[in-house]
Amino acid sequence: MSLVKAILITGANGQLGQCFQVLAKYYPQYHFLFTDKNALQIADENAVNVLFEKNKIDVCINCAAYTAVDKAETERELAIAINATAVGYLARACKKHSTQFIHISTDYVFDGTAIVPYKPTDITKPVNFYGQTKLDGELNAAKENAKSIIIRTAWVYSEFGNNFLKTMMRLMNERENIGVVNDQKGAPTYAADLADAIMQIIEKNNFVSGIYHYSNKGNISWYNFAKEIASQLKTLCIVNPITTSQFPTPAARPKFSVLDSQKIEKTFEIQIPEWKSSLTKCILKMV
Ligand SMILES: NC(=O)c1ccc[n+]([C@@H]2O[C@H](COP(=O)([O-])OP(=O)(O)OC[C@H]3O[C@@H](n4cnc5c(N)ncnc54)[C@H](OP(=O)(O)O)[C@@H]3O)[C@@H](O)[C@H]2O)c1
Repeated sequence: MSLVKAILITGANGQLGQCFQVLAKYYPQYHFLFTDKNALQIADENAVNVLFEKNKIDVCINCAAYTAVDKAETERELAIAINATAVGYLARACKKHSTQFIHISTDYVFDGTAIVPYKPTDITKPVNFYGQTKLDGELNAAKENAKSIIIRTAWVYSEFGNNFLKTMMRLMNERENIGVVNDQKGAPTYAADLADAIMQIIEKNNFVSGIYHYSNKGNISWYNFAKEIASQLKTLCIVNPITTSQFPTPAARPKFSVLDSQKIEKTFEIQIPEWKSSLTKCILKMV
């Protein structure tokens, strides 16, 4: 039996998954098994079970998800299969094989009517279908495997995949003016910081199950975020504030999705960077 701890990363070609691929180089003491959609379809229960039978996995980090928030309003069955049902398959397999399950969820489980940052114990009430599927995924994880660690995050960006930062960089390059929503508040999260925090949890080998929140420090609107991106890029593009009603989307968005990350900080003694410095780190990797 190998003494090297094996870590399975599902959805390895997504934003968070790719950040783990970068981090893996700094953790030679672990064996990482990266699976993209082709190597492991998490919505295929048999495929999940076969993978766990064939490989001794110590920690499973579920980075796979259906993240097309607007499309989820119409592609409901697919969103349920990946974000809700499949999480149950993974959690059950983890329980059977004594694997620590770490699952990623979202601020969209909340309705956004709060005026102070959401704590993990606050009442959930998703305002869109994606949020509902992610909440159902959390419930399935907890039902199938009470030892699961569920980490809700928000406004994720990185140098990989599609995200707000990359959209802004493209638009700021193409246009002289852009309008960005100023009446939705949250805290951006650099996916590399979240991956780093999860590796610290694994390093400490202190798996305290439960629901946690993780986002970079701060409380801003998308408009503030875009303004800071423009400032750091030194672009001439003018960023104007607009309202949510001026930018209608198929899926409703919570107006306030600031997460209170104190529980994860205290439980695992993790220091969370402030959003602006993390944005600088990410932009420096891209320009
Ligand atoms: N992005 C955000 O702003 C945000 C905010 C809050 C929470 N989160 C949560 O954070 C986690 C990571 O998000 P992310 O931004 O890294 O997402 P992402 O970039 O969309 O990555 C998700 C990955 O999962 C893969 N995937 C989709 N269906 C799959 C399946 N059936 N089996 C295996 N893999 C599958 C996707 O592949 P394809 O792209 O090929 O479909 C993609 O590579 C997710 O749980 C998400 O819900 C994200």
